[in-house]
Amino acid sequence: MSALLVDNIGELVTNGVGEDPLGIRRKAAVLVEEGRVAWVGPSAYAPAADRRIDAGGAAVLPGFVDSHAHLVFAGDRAAEFAARMAGEPYTGGGIRTTVGATRAATDDELRATVRRLRGEALRQGTTTMEIKSGYGLSVADEARSLRIAAETSTETTFLGAHVVPAEYADRPDDYVGLVCGPMLAAAAPHAKWIDVFCERGAFDVDHARAILSCGQAVGLGVRLHANQLGPGPGVQLGVELGAASVDHCTHLSDADVEALAGTVHDDGSGTRTVATLLPGAEFSTRSPYPDARRLLDAGVTVALATDCNPGSSYTSSMPFCIALAVREMRMTPAEAVWAATAGGARALRRDDIGVLTPGARADLVVLDAPSYLHLAYRPGVPLICQVIRNGVPQ
Ligand code: NIG
Ligand code: FE
Repeated sequence: MSALLVDNIGELVTNGVGEDPLGIRRKAAVLVEEGRVAWVGPSAYAPAADRRIDAGGAAVLPGFVDSHAHLVFAGDRAAEFAARMAGEPYTGGGIRTTVGATRAATDDELRATVRRLRGEALRQGTTTMEIKSGYGLSVADEARSLRIAAETSTETTFLGAHVVPAEYADRPDDYVGLVCGPMLAAAAPHAKWIDVFCERGAFDVDHARAILSCGQAVGLGVRLHANQLGPGPGVQLGVELGAASVDHCTHLSDADVEALAGTVHDDGSGTRTVATLLPGAEFSTRSPYPDARRLLDAGVTVALATDCNPGSSYTSSMPFCIALAVREMRMTPAEAVWAATAGGARALRRDDIGVLTPGARADLVVLDAPSYLHLAYRPGVPLICQVIRNGVPQ
C-alpha cells in the first residue's frame, strides 16, 4: 500500500470540529492512503510514507466543491455579454440560442467542451463538480448530454426544464408532459439529481412542482434554480420538497429566509436545504448580488458555486467566486472558503468531501500563499499550485 504524506503545511483548513469554523491546524501534515485521508496531525509527529510532498509552509485546504455548473453545451454568447455590458438586461432568453448550437453539435464536440471546462476548473482547485444538462431539451439531446456529463462526474443533474424550447412555445403544458414522461425516463439512468429553472419566463411553480415530484418518484434528488431574476415562490417550493439546495436566492422575502433557516437541524448536524449563491451570475449580468449576510445571520447554510455556463456566468473559477462573495456579498473570507468547500458538499448531500478529516476523500489544494485569506485578498491571481484528487497529484 502506497502512502503519500503532504508535509510542512503552514495553515491547514480541515473544516473539522475545532475552535474556529474552518478547523484550522498550523504546522500540520496529512497522510493519504488509498485515496482517503488516513491521518491529520502536527508535522513533528508525521508518520513515514513512501512519497512526500513538501508544502513549504503554505496553506492547504480541501478541494473546492462546485455544486452548480452547466458544462454540456456548444458555442458561446460573447456577443450577448457585450450587449449586456452596453446596457441590455439579462432575461434568460439566450438559453434558446445555446440549445440550437448544442443540438447541432456532435457528441465529441460536446465531450471536448466538458473536458476543457472540467480541466480548467481542476487547475483552479475544483475537485468535485456537478454537471447539468439543459441545453438539449429534446429526449435524445437531454439523454446524450447526461451520458456525456456522467463520463466526467457522478454528480449529474437532469435540467430538461431549463426553458420551454421554441417548438413548444405555444404549448408549455405539453412540454412539461414530455419532461415528466419520455425525457425523464431517458435521462434518469444517467442522473442523480433533477433541477428546474423556476422563474418568470421559464417554469412557474405548478410546473416546477409537477416536474420535481416526477423526478423524486424515480429516485432523483431535488435541487432548483429559484429567485434569480425576481421574487417568487421557488425557494418555498424547494423547502417544501426537501430540496438539497435552492440556487441563486438573489431576491428573497423574509419568509423565504425563515423557511431556509427552518431547515437547519437542531443539533446543527446539517441541513435539508442549502442556499447556494452564484455570484458569477450577478457579476456577468451586472445585477445586484444576493445578500449572503442576511442568510448567514439567520442561520441558513450557504454554499458558493460558479454556475459555469455560456450565458449568465462563463467562469469555472471558485477562487473568483470566493473573492466576489467577500467583496460584494459581505461574507468573511472564512465563511466564503467554508461555503466553497464544506457548503458545496452539503448542497450535494455529501459528507466525504469538503473536509480534510480522517476517512474523507483525499482532495487537497496547496496554495502558493501562506493563508486561505489570500484567495480573497489576491483576486485574479493563480494561487493554486498543486491539486490532489482522490489521493492522486494532478
Ligand atoms: O443558472 N438561470 C438559468 N440558467 C442559467 C443561465 C443559462 C443561460 O443563460 O444560458 C443560470 O444562470
Ligand atoms: Fe444555473
